[in-house]
Amino acid sequence: MRLGGKTALITGSARGIGLEFARAYIAEGATVALADINAKAVAEAAAALGPKAIGVQMDVTSQASIDSGFASAIEQMGGLDILVNNAALFTASPIAEITRAEYDRLFAVNVSGTLFCMQAAAKHMIARGKVGKIINMASQAGRRGEGLVAVYCATKAAVISLTQSAGLGLIEHKINVNAIAPGVVDGEHWDGVDAFFAKYENKAPGQKKREVGAAVPFGRMGTAADLTGMAIFLATPEAEYIVAQCFGVDGGNWMA
Ligand SMILES: NC(=O)c1ccc[n+]([C@@H]2O[C@H](COP(=O)([O-])OP(=O)(O)OC[C@H]3O[C@@H](n4cnc5c(N)ncnc54)[C@H](O)[C@@H]3O)[C@@H](O)[C@H]2O)c1
Repeated sequence: MRLGGKTALITGSARGIGLEFARAYIAEGATVALADINAKAVAEAAAALGPKAIGVQMDVTSQASIDSGFASAIEQMGGLDILVNNAALFTASPIAEITRAEYDRLFAVNVSGTLFCMQAAAKHMIARGKVGKIINMASQAGRRGEGLVAVYCATKAAVISLTQSAGLGLIEHKINVNAIAPGVVDGEHWDGVDAFFAKYENKAPGQKKREVGAAVPFGRMGTAADLTGMAIFLATPEAEYIVAQCFGVDGGNWMA
């Protein structure tokens, strides 16, 4: 049990990677608050994971929702040791078609959501005076541009930058801030990505997924389970000397 007795809050965990992280953290002994904008889905997900999971409705774009969501999770769990900033939205648009609404929404969820959830966790962790761990979900998309994915790429570059600054700003309080950059991870998220590319690259449904999977040096798309080892490791004491880093877990995709 590598996380025995620890408490964690994972944003965007009603499905996909965040839900798999919650399952993995509980298997390692943690109590986990699943926090998601989708109240019904997060309540069902938490119930399915059993007594070491609690569901919290939280919109990471609303400060009032962040404040009440963290307060509720901390009260129910008796504290907070680990935050995983995982909630995010994806869109694809040619540069000429990007709208201000799309830009504002993605930056609100992916960037300001990450920053102000980090702040909420850090305030609690600093006041409590114990070690803390913050793990931000970046992406290979934050390390390079993509012609159809400018806004999402920019948000994930910002997440990497926030990880670097918060990592430096919080380590004096024994709070480690690091990030994970996945490549292409199969699931409902990528079903949506596939639909964007079907529209803009005139591909058949499922074609983009097959192409990106075949292009990964490892030989297939990733799964949420491929990422849990890093998410657990970064939350353990073995990772205490790791500060302000972003780790690719992508089957070699970005390097290729
Ligand atoms: N799937 C991939 O290929 C991939 C690749 C690289 C990085 N990532 C990153 O990994 C993370 C998880 O991805 P996923 O594939 O599981 O995504 P997903 O779309 O399956 O899940 C995202 C979750 O975030 C929630 N959410 C959306 N807006 C929210 C808000 N305002 N407040 C709270 N919750 C909100 C959604 O309800 C959903 O449950 C994201 O940060 C994503 O950018 C994913």
